[in-house]
Amino acid sequence: MELVYLQLLILLSCCYYVHGKPEGALPGACDTMVPGHSAPAQNSPPPFQITLDKTSYGGSDVIAVTLSKNSTNKFKGYLIQARNQDGTKIPGFELIQNSKFLQCNNPNDAVTHTEASPKDSVTFNFTAPAKSRGNITIFATAVEKTATFWVKIPSETIIDKATTGAASTILPNVVVVTFAVFCKYLSQH
Ligand SMILES: *[C@@H]1O[C@H](CO)[C@@H](O)[C@H](O)[C@H]1NC(C)=O
Ligand SMILES: *[C@@H]1O[C@H](CO)[C@@H](O)[C@H](O)[C@H]1NC(C)=O
Ligand SMILES: *[C@@H]1O[C@H](CO)[C@@H](O)[C@H](O)[C@H]1NC(C)=O
Repeated sequence: MELVYLQLLILLSCCYYVHGKPEGALPGACDTMVPGHSAPAQNSPPPFQITLDKTSYGGSDVIAVTLSKNSTNKFKGYLIQARNQDGTKIPGFELIQNSKFLQCNNPNDAVTHTEASPKDSVTFNFTAPAKSRGNITIFATAVEKTATFWVKIPSETIIDKATTGAASTILPNVVVVTFAVFCKYLSQH
């Protein structure tokens, strides 16, 4: 009963945040990535950055996505998503220690923290889509403390190899198919 009351209170007060709180971001942060209504986001250059070990993808490439500090500020909370050029959230994250999925439109399309210790960096593996989904950008909201946070810090663009003419990922299949057809042809003649 008390739990229901608490949930109602939370809903009524419209407190959806990626707080520096242990429970991490709440589902209301899925689209805007804005952690809370208690303070405006910082407009200054973020003291955090996203780095990637690959900046292009073919089918199911695994990309290591790191959110890290680039000055002395540490972050307590984070929300990380991948989106394509239409803004569609692209699933594919794997959990690390002290993280959980936010489950926005798909089970693994957003990751957030589960404890609020000050962090230097977190690294998640992101498996790129098996099929072409266009260029992808990783976005992170990072919370230094409750009233100090930066929203939607972008990564470099992860370029979809299938749309840039770098068709190396599909070439092997074409070769195999062609070879198989050729063998069949030989066996029949
Ligand atoms: C940290 O990295 C971000 C993203 O690359 C950049 O916008 C920002 O200016 C950097 N901040 C500092 C303090 O170097
Ligand atoms: C990412 O995947 C690679 C290969 O499976 C693994 O060695 C590495 O530990 C993973 N990293 C994270 C942060 O999960
Ligand atoms: C993806 O990014 C690359 C490099 O910036 C660009 O050439 C390509 O046109 C982009 N793809 C789409 C579908 O916009």
